[in-house]
Amino acid sequence: MKFCGQCATSLEITEEAAPAAKTERRHVTVLFADLTGYTTFSEGRDPEEVRKFLTGYFDRSRVVIERFGGLVEKFIGDAVMAVWGADTAHEDDAERAVRAGFELTELVDKLAADTGAPDLRLRVGVHTGEAAVGPGEDHMGLVTGDLVNTASRLESAAEPGTVLVGDVTKQSASRGIAFESVGEQNLKGKSIPVTAWRAVRLLSETGGQGKTEALEPPFVGRANELRLLKDVLDTVRSDSQSRLVSLVGEAGIGKSRLVWELKKYAGGLVDTTYWHEGRSPAYGDGVTFWAAAEMIRARATLLETADDIETDMALDMALETYIADPADRDWLKPRLAAVLGTGKAPPGGRSELDAAVRAFFEGVAKQGPAVMIFEDVHWADEAMLDFIEELTKWWRDQPIMIVSLARPDLIERRPNWGTGGHNVISLSLGPLNDAQMADLVTGTVPGVPDPAVTAIVERAAGIPLYAVELIRSLVAAGDLESEHDRYRVVGDLSELAVPDSLQAVIGARLDRFDPDDRDLIQNAAVLGQSFTVDALSRLTGIEAADLEQRLTSISRREVITAVRDPRSAEHDQYRFVQSLIREVALSRMSKDLLRDRHLAVAEHMESRDEPELAVVVASHYLQALDATSEGEERDHIRRRAISSMRSAVDRAADVRGHEQVISISEQAITIADSDEERTPFWERITAAATDLGRPEEAGRYANLAIDHYRSVGDQHSEWRATRRLGFAYAQNSDWENAIELLEPIVKGAGDLTIDVELARIAAIHARALSILAMDGGVEASRALDITEAALQALERLHLTPEIVDTMITRATGLGATGRQVEMRVLLSGAIEIADTHDLYHAQTRGRNNLMFSTDPLDVERSVAIQEQAREIGTRAGDLSFVAFITGSISMLRTLEGDFEEAQREADSVTEYPAFEGLVAWKAVFVNTWEGNEPGVRSAVERLREATEIAPTSANRSALASMEVIRELVFGDREPAYRTLLEAAQNTYNTTFFTLTRFSHPG
Ligand SMILES: Nc1ncnc2c1ncn2[C@@H]1O[C@H](COP(=O)(O)OP(=O)(O)OP(=O)(O)O)[C@@H](O)[C@H]1O
Ligand SMILES: [Mg+2]
Repeated sequence: MKFCGQCATSLEITEEAAPAAKTERRHVTVLFADLTGYTTFSEGRDPEEVRKFLTGYFDRSRVVIERFGGLVEKFIGDAVMAVWGADTAHEDDAERAVRAGFELTELVDKLAADTGAPDLRLRVGVHTGEAAVGPGEDHMGLVTGDLVNTASRLESAAEPGTVLVGDVTKQSASRGIAFESVGEQNLKGKSIPVTAWRAVRLLSETGGQGKTEALEPPFVGRANELRLLKDVLDTVRSDSQSRLVSLVGEAGIGKSRLVWELKKYAGGLVDTTYWHEGRSPAYGDGVTFWAAAEMIRARATLLETADDIETDMALDMALETYIADPADRDWLKPRLAAVLGTGKAPPGGRSELDAAVRAFFEGVAKQGPAVMIFEDVHWADEAMLDFIEELTKWWRDQPIMIVSLARPDLIERRPNWGTGGHNVISLSLGPLNDAQMADLVTGTVPGVPDPAVTAIVERAAGIPLYAVELIRSLVAAGDLESEHDRYRVVGDLSELAVPDSLQAVIGARLDRFDPDDRDLIQNAAVLGQSFTVDALSRLTGIEAADLEQRLTSISRREVITAVRDPRSAEHDQYRFVQSLIREVALSRMSKDLLRDRHLAVAEHMESRDEPELAVVVASHYLQALDATSEGEERDHIRRRAISSMRSAVDRAADVRGHEQVISISEQAITIADSDEERTPFWERITAAATDLGRPEEAGRYANLAIDHYRSVGDQHSEWRATRRLGFAYAQNSDWENAIELLEPIVKGAGDLTIDVELARIAAIHARALSILAMDGGVEASRALDITEAALQALERLHLTPEIVDTMITRATGLGATGRQVEMRVLLSGAIEIADTHDLYHAQTRGRNNLMFSTDPLDVERSVAIQEQAREIGTRAGDLSFVAFITGSISMLRTLEGDFEEAQREADSVTEYPAFEGLVAWKAVFVNTWEGNEPGVRSAVERLREATEIAPTSANRSALASMEVIRELVFGDREPAYRTLLEAAQNTYNTTFFTLTRFSHPG
């Protein structure tokens, strides 16, 4: 059974059968296409050139026809005949044949333009019915009968550049395609006239899927832009490399419409396109991952309103469908659940969640090409923008097309949006020209008097939404009446009053509603771009059933529309037909009303208690606060805003939205009126800034918090804030400062188990000491003693992640005293626990350290461990760790004598923002291999300078080993060897051990 990629329901196959073994009667659709102007074209040209043109055309038309599921039956002279349903009949055969017809005429227009032969056009005839289908080699001579003749006659009757179809074809294709009658045609060789229809345009994906109930003018202009999008999609399909297309243009210019046209195209292709759409909502700072979550929900056929249990089940099913490896599913599940807002992300960085989202869509793309549409990106937060921008780098070999739609405000905020990078294409949509606008108007309202067209076109200034809104207001005023998919003039349009801004047109249209409905629309606008009946009912106190009725009537006037698409996460909700309509509705509310409504929405959402809404709740409180003047009430709202912002910050921290944590916190700090209100946010910023590698910012806020807690005598909180500061130092490898901060506390404490924060402080302190012990900066036995005390306390308090981390610390200490075997056992155990508890940091740190404690002669085993670590790092999207580990692998390969492999590994690192030590390592390695002594010396010098500026342990140990290599190869081998032996005895770094083996001078 074949499944449709967008809805996961099985495709209706009306008749499934093997290719005919003998001649049979079948229901088929035949397409005939013929070039006009071909004779003139070939007369004036070199026969070679003509032949080349024709071969090119035939090759490409075959590709087009097959893409839409047809079979080329034959090429006759300059004509093409193709069949749908010859071996397997589908109910949308006729529709696909017409779609292929559209594409073929477009193909010829393009070829003609490229060849400088503007008179070349294509005529297409399509006819559906019974025909004799016989066994044939290569489908040649497969289909015969009257049907074939009729298709060919229809083709001759078609105007150049158009597709003409018979009655049956029109009947079966009309759900997705608009047709115009051309009356009865007396076709050559036919005794009775045949009713013929001209195919005008696509209305939907196949079978009427996604068709809109609202006014949709014929698509005008933008043919090149659409061509480009289709080409990108086709290229992504064929070369399996992702592309990002950035569309930028002002409100109502036609961004969403262009993408909708692409979707109609993709819907007609036989190969499933896995289509996803996600929108960034206009909630101030945005909701981290909202757009991605919408796409995942739709793929998992989950409604936005689903509860935790439904989400859990749907996620399981989606993972089973799209992710082959059970281990990957286990890894993905908690992370995607966090993205969807039903869980807390496991410990690890934001990059892990990014990686999980990417991995999910990579899984989808394994089944077929995927498209991801990021709508309203001007409202996305920075993290989401980074995420989108980096996709093509990660997806060099994934068949995924990414499209971002944004208004120009985004470019003010991000001037480089869509300009750089691999496989990024930028399109800026400008106004349509007057002729195109006139076509839009007359195509929608045939018979509209010329002066009215001129008035509309002049005012609309090339913005299609302007024209659309004017037409809608004429409908509202009763001057136009709907007729099929068009409008008819019934009023007097001679005195057309056209408001002078788009906002005013929309405002005037909203004014036409009676006050109750207008009120309803405004309430809905406060809820968001889309909203549920349930939410609106609670907000307004109107019964859901009554509400449905009123919403239906408002929908008819095209302000909102019901989302009926079962594949959408917003299924069963209502949506504003255009975001600008919602924006105008909001802008027309009084301050008092705005405040009341925002408060009501915030309270309603708070009661739903859904973490992913926390940021939205906070944004409603903030907007309510904005609309409130000084006074007691203001203070009340302010306090609620602050408390909602605390939840919002928690949620942002759960999905590692560090930037968002900081921006919400900074906002909260400005509206807070006491340090007591501010401290929780100071602490949050400390944690987020630490994760972002901004130690100074972390330190500044940590100190504010520490001082505050000290001044109020809150010991536990003071320790917690101190622990955060100590951690910030540790993350920055600033061990000396960590020790200076933490040592007095640990020493003064006595019993470490009296407070979890104290035990945690001891753990960080122990880690700092052990690291310094490695280089002999601290006595190793002392480090071990302190680690021991910390471990005892942690065990008693059952702090698993900290226990595992401190086990690794202890292993480091053991290594520093030469106790290699114990170190190995301890690390293996720590890694095991880290793996079961999914503790990323310990998983990678443990493995990295374990490499240094394996048998020095067992390079293979070391490499195997490093490769595991690299896999974990890659899955988590932790590029700098991957680079670091790759450097180590390259080093091990060198020691093993496998220079080629070492070179290959080292080369792969240059793609990453590598550590300086790693870059230098590569330079030393290559130059050593090539015997270039000055090259080696200058590379070592560069590393020495870098290490002076950034004395990280990675750099220091790289420098030490580089110096030894330099001396071993180009210098005095005896003393170098002695240094090496000494180093091997004094450090846990087995690189030195290994080097001794390979470099014994004797
Ligand atoms: N090329 C076009 N031909 C005909 N109608 C168009 C064209 N482009 C846009 N329209 C119509 O204009 C209206 C606004 O277009 P659309 O919704 O695509 O704007 P947008 O750029 O996405 O705006 P926003 O920034 O508000 O989302 C729609 O009704 C759409 O059908
Ligand atoms: Mg849009």
